[in-house]
Parts: sequence; C-alpha cells; structure tokens
Amino acid sequence: MQNIQELESICKTCMKCELSKTRTNVVFGKGNIKAKILFIGEAPGKNEDIQGIPFVGAAGKELDKLLNKIGLSLDDAYIANILKCRPPENRNPNNEEIKLCTPYLIEQIKLINPEVICTLGNYSTKLILAKCNPDNMKSIEGITKLHGKSKIIVLDEKEVKVIPIYHPAAMLYNPKLRETMSIDFEKIKEEINCEKKNKKNF
Ligand code: URA
Repeated sequence: MQNIQELESICKTCMKCELSKTRTNVVFGKGNIKAKILFIGEAPGKNEDIQGIPFVGAAGKELDKLLNKIGLSLDDAYIANILKCRPPENRNPNNEEIKLCTPYLIEQIKLINPEVICTLGNYSTKLILAKCNPDNMKSIEGITKLHGKSKIIVLDEKEVKVIPIYHPAAMLYNPKLRETMSIDFEKIKEEINCEKKNKKNF
C-alpha cells in the first residue's frame, strides 16, 4: 500500500462482512498520520457511524479530556478502531469481523509507523499484544491485569511500545475508574517523555 489515503478509499468500499450492510459510514481514523502515538479502540458507535469519525460520542469526549490533561491533541496522535464499521446495537465485535477487518488495521499501523500504541480496552489490547493475530487473542490477559503497564513488542520487524488503557466508555459505566484512567494517562505522558529522550526523531 502506497499511502493512507489509498488505504482509506479501499476500506470505504469494503463489503467483506455483514456490518457493511448496516453501516452508515466506514469509520477509518482521525488525527495526524505522522503521529508517533496511535490510539486503538474497539469499533464505532452510533455517533461515529453517523459522522464517519472515530470517538466523537460520549466516550470520545472522555478521551479528548484525558488527552488534553496530558497535553496531547489530534496533532500529536492518530486514533483508529479495530472494526471500521459499527456493530448493530453496539454489540461486541465477533471473531469473524475482527479477522476480516484486522488487515486494514495492520496496514494502518505500517503506514503510520508509531513508536507508541495505546490500546483502549480489552479487544484492542488483546489483538495488539497478540501481534495482530486474532487467533492468539485468547492467550492474552485482560485489561484489568494489563492496564497502565507498558510492553515492547515487535510488529512487522519493528519495536513498538504498547500501553494498554481501559476503554474510556468503561469510565462512563464505572466512575471509580476515573482515577485509574488519570493515573494511566500520566503513565502515557511519562512513556512519551522517555521515548522523546531516547529517540532524537520522536
Ligand atoms: N468506542 C470505540 O471503541 N471507538 C469509537 O470510535 C467510539 C466508541
């Protein structure tokens, strides 16, 4: 794949799974394609499906606040999801959908070439730590154990730092997670500063 625009236009005509029949828009991604930090969520919700942009609903507002708190904006980050189309009634993504949609995410990661990937919630944490192999997701621990702990993995022959974070929607259901999320976002800030120190081009 030559560039992200080419990938986006291919993705926008995707009919590989049943979600293509119920979607309003394909939700590809937003932010700076040259960013060193990539956030990966699960799947678009109702508002994202209507607007064709990830994280514009209630969870997105929480994510914006958390990013602002650590001094990041969409100039510094790119935000995408595992699934590019909304599952009806916001149900969880199923295996088949994840398998069919992951190749788009893999290409997105290659083209963006981030130094840090922040996975939002269980699904993206498991998929990324399984090195984007959906068949290995089951062997990865859940977000309750892994949140806030960074891990370096090799993706496409390149080292990348992965920081699992709770999904911002989880905070809406469980306000007790707010403090945990703030602490974990501080961890992101620290890790970014550490990368900046170590890598001249960060
Ligand atoms: N939740 C996600 O995982 N992604 C979105 O884009 C919106 C809500």
